[in-house]
Amino acid sequence: MAKSKRKSLIPATLIPGDGIGPEIIKATVSVLDALEAPFEWDVQIAGMAAVTEHLDPLPEATLASIRRTGLALKGPLTTPVGGGFRSINVRLREEFKLFGNVRPGKTTIPGGRFDDIDIVLIRENLEGLYVGFDHYIPIDNDPHGAAISSGVNTRAGCRRIARFAFEYAVKNGRKKITIIHKANILKALTGIFLETALEVAKEYEGRVQVDDRIVDACAMQLVMNPWQFDVLLTTNLFGDILSDEIAGLVGGLGMTPGANIGEHAAIFEAVHGSAPDIAGKGIANPIAVMNAAAMMLDHVERQDLAKRLREAIHATVNEDNVRTGDLGGKATTAEFTNAIIRRIEGKASPVKVASKNKASKKKS
Ligand code: NAI
Ligand code: MG
Repeated sequence: MAKSKRKSLIPATLIPGDGIGPEIIKATVSVLDALEAPFEWDVQIAGMAAVTEHLDPLPEATLASIRRTGLALKGPLTTPVGGGFRSINVRLREEFKLFGNVRPGKTTIPGGRFDDIDIVLIRENLEGLYVGFDHYIPIDNDPHGAAISSGVNTRAGCRRIARFAFEYAVKNGRKKITIIHKANILKALTGIFLETALEVAKEYEGRVQVDDRIVDACAMQLVMNPWQFDVLLTTNLFGDILSDEIAGLVGGLGMTPGANIGEHAAIFEAVHGSAPDIAGKGIANPIAVMNAAAMMLDHVERQDLAKRLREAIHATVNEDNVRTGDLGGKATTAEFTNAIIRRIEGKASPVKVASKNKASKKKS
């Protein structure tokens, strides 16, 4: 029996990361253990830990591991300032051609400024203004006399992300995709994105509705009436900005996960960074990484376990009222994690931290 269990394990790379990374990844792994999730972890380093050991924030052994497993759960990585290091996240996306970035924003705790939000943003992750054609031109004695940046969107890249988004919608029972662009001004760069996505949309007629918005209007409408949106499909930079806006609609950085998807690899992580201000204090909110782990379970077709994990998170914050400080609670990362594990094991939390929670008492 032990043998057949071993056989069904899925190799996956685990990168604890920097700052609060090791704390929230440890919490998430113990929750996954309680769920008996089928991952066989290959722990690898990246970020500052790797700089100390290998003088490279993204060592070859870590890349080789992801090449082998095609699957990773990753803590946030601090990109060293200066020293000529490129963003590790951009390097990872390019290395594994992780063209699709999926960032769901869903309300977990009712009674906030916005209720019942359920929006998925799908962002093209490799092209647009992130290609790095970015430079200065000296004018007279000023080496920074002018700055020039060029974006690149290819027909193939637009088609690939659009098809990915429509397939996502079909698979996940989503009804509508809104294409976000600035085709009135950036006529070529984002016009090709709109034009190609509309072409792909025709293949899904009758299954997924489609409309489009100009990015600035969309930013305003996300605040005025976010409930009109279902799935947003957009280019790299607009997706970066709007996904943070959506995170703001659902309680902020401690909650929102992201998946970076390519043909041969997928990397799951929180949207937030390494939070150096609270690192080592044991108070970080692990929900974002746990939500990323739930997306990873969906990805390996263990929707049953993903559902149990999301339900346990929901019950812990709403029924047991166990919350970390960023959500107005008093629980440490470890207390919160233990409460989730009790829920997974089918027990409500015996520790009533509820009365101490500021959030549960906070007046509207
Ligand atoms: P940050 O997301 O690390 O922190 C912003 C604020 O949110 C801080 O006050 C922090 O305490 C709080 N916060 C973030 N996550 C939290 C959590 N789980 N629980 C409770 N509070 C939380 O952003 P910041 O400070 O701009 O970046 C710090 C470092 O992280 C930088 O080196 C940056 O390059 C890196 N970074 C890495 C990312 C990644 O690896 N995917 C993404 C974003 C930033
Ligand atoms: Mg961002």
